[in-house]
Amino acid sequence: MILIKTDEEIEGIRKAAQVVAEVLEYSREIVKPGVMTKEVDAKIKEFIENRGGYPAFLGYRGYPAASCISLNDEVVHGIPGNRKIKEGDLVKVDVGVNLNGYIGDAAITIIVGDVSPKVRKLVETTERALYNGINQAYPGSRLSDISHAIQVTAEKEGFSVVRDLGGHGVGLKLHEEPFIPNYGPPGRGPVLKMGMTLALEPMVNMGHPHVKTKKDGWTVVTRDGSLSAHFEHTIAILDNGPEILSKIS
Ligand code: MF3
Ligand code: CO
Repeated sequence: MILIKTDEEIEGIRKAAQVVAEVLEYSREIVKPGVMTKEVDAKIKEFIENRGGYPAFLGYRGYPAASCISLNDEVVHGIPGNRKIKEGDLVKVDVGVNLNGYIGDAAITIIVGDVSPKVRKLVETTERALYNGINQAYPGSRLSDISHAIQVTAEKEGFSVVRDLGGHGVGLKLHEEPFIPNYGPPGRGPVLKMGMTLALEPMVNMGHPHVKTKKDGWTVVTRDGSLSAHFEHTIAILDNGPEILSKIS
C-alpha cells in the first residue's frame, strides 16, 4: 500500500529533507583529496545531530554509519572507512535524516578535481535523469512514467541504468512502498496521487548495467568496473505537481 501523507506529515518530511539538503551542500565543502571517507561521515553525523536530527541509515538493517559514501565503480551503499579521497574521484554521498519521526533521503555525486568530458557527462546525465523523472510525478500519472523518463535520459547518452536497485516511497519510514524502477515502459504501475512522498534515485553506469554486492554485505559495485553516478531527491506529489523537498532553499 502506498501511503498518502497529510499536509502536516508532508511539512514534517519537508523539514527533515531540508536538513538532508543542507548536509549534502556541506559535504561538497568537506569532500576533498586526502580526506578519509570516515572523516566525512563523522562530520555528516555531527551536522545532522546539531540540527536535532538522527541519521536514518545508522542501524537500518544493521548499517554501521550515518551516510553511504561510494567511490568510482561503487554504485551505492559504500561504507565510510579509512580510504582517502583523491583527485579525479567520483564521490557519491547518500544521506537520510530522521527529524521528529519524519524522514528525508537524498544523494549527490561529487566530482573531485578534474575528470574527462565523458565522466562529466555521466554525472550531468544522471542528475538530468533525476529531474526528468521528477517532472513526471503528477497526480494521475503512472509510476512507470517516472521510470521510463529516467531510462530514456540515461540511454540516449549511451549510458545504462542499474536494474537491481531503485527509488522508493519515503517519509514515515526510510523504505516504504512502492519500489520505483529506473527503467521500463511508460503507463504502467500504480496511479500517482496527491500526498505521496517518494525518493527517486537513478543510478547510471558508464558501462553495463550489472552490479554485485561486495563481501562486506553492503557495497554495490558495477560488475564491469565501470564508473557509476547517483542522484536522489525526496519529493512530494502535490495537486499542482511535484515539490522537491530535499532541494536546497
Ligand atoms: N538512499 C539509499 C536507499 O534508499 C540509502 C539506504 S542505505 C541504508 O537505499 F544503509 F540505510 F540501507
Ligand atoms: Co533512497
